[in-house]
Amino acid sequence: MISMKNIQKIYKMGSSSFTALEEIDLSITKGEYVAIVGPSGAGKSTLMNIIGCLDTATDGEYILDGLNTKCSDNKLAEIRNKKIGFIFQNYNLLPKLNILENVELPLLYLGYPNGKIRERAKQSLEKVGLETHLKHKPSELSGGQMQRVAIARALVTDPQIILADEPTGALDSKTGKEVLKMLTDLNKEGNTIIMITHDKEIAAYAKRIITVRDGKITSDVLNENEVTA
Ligand SMILES: Nc1ncnc2c1ncn2[C@@H]1O[C@H](COP(=O)(O)OP(=O)(O)OP(=O)(O)O)[C@@H](O)[C@H]1O
Ligand SMILES: [Mg+2]
Repeated sequence: MISMKNIQKIYKMGSSSFTALEEIDLSITKGEYVAIVGPSGAGKSTLMNIIGCLDTATDGEYILDGLNTKCSDNKLAEIRNKKIGFIFQNYNLLPKLNILENVELPLLYLGYPNGKIRERAKQSLEKVGLETHLKHKPSELSGGQMQRVAIARALVTDPQIILADEPTGALDSKTGKEVLKMLTDLNKEGNTIIMITHDKEIAAYAKRIITVRDGKITSDVLNENEVTA
């Protein structure tokens, strides 16, 4: 599913540059549940941006589901829209749209048949238990509900990979656990999940834990004491 070889990311700032990732070799197969952990500034978001085709590596090879990601920006956006579902710490919902419209957006971008968009978005919101709130704006929801909308939006295109960057970072611990349970259930249904977190307790829900430090992978282990949500 994911194959990275010798990935390097250098940020250039005027005349200086900063190496945020180096010598990253990483393979992730279908159905895995991976947590990427590491201290602030380690390069987690940089890695997630490359995995999610939001950014490209300076050097190295990244093959996603058989496709080489060294391609034009348009092609990269197409790969991203088709293959990745994103969940962010602060939900990234559009405030002016109701939640049904928010979940419809990725389908619109994909050029999904018009007649089917609404139905498909409704099904996705049903899956996260929000079918009674379709007309609510994001500001009319709790944090946990907003994150469930984001999960519905991530799922609506039936992506190959769900990428979550600190998905529980803005939630209280009880609501955070509900979101983690949802991710565990999605993984049990066969979805590939990659979660970024700086919190060891949250990483414990994943089946494999990868540690990034100073731009390098310093450990990659199976989590034998996986917390059951
Ligand atoms: N656009 C950029 N330009 C220059 N340097 C950057 C840029 N983005 C990130 N960096 C640097 O790259 C390093 C890794 O940043 P990154 O955001 O990937 O860290 P992180 O592990 O996600 O940290 P956090 O846990 O705080 O979110 C940091 O030192 C950061 O300052
Ligand atoms: Mg980050």
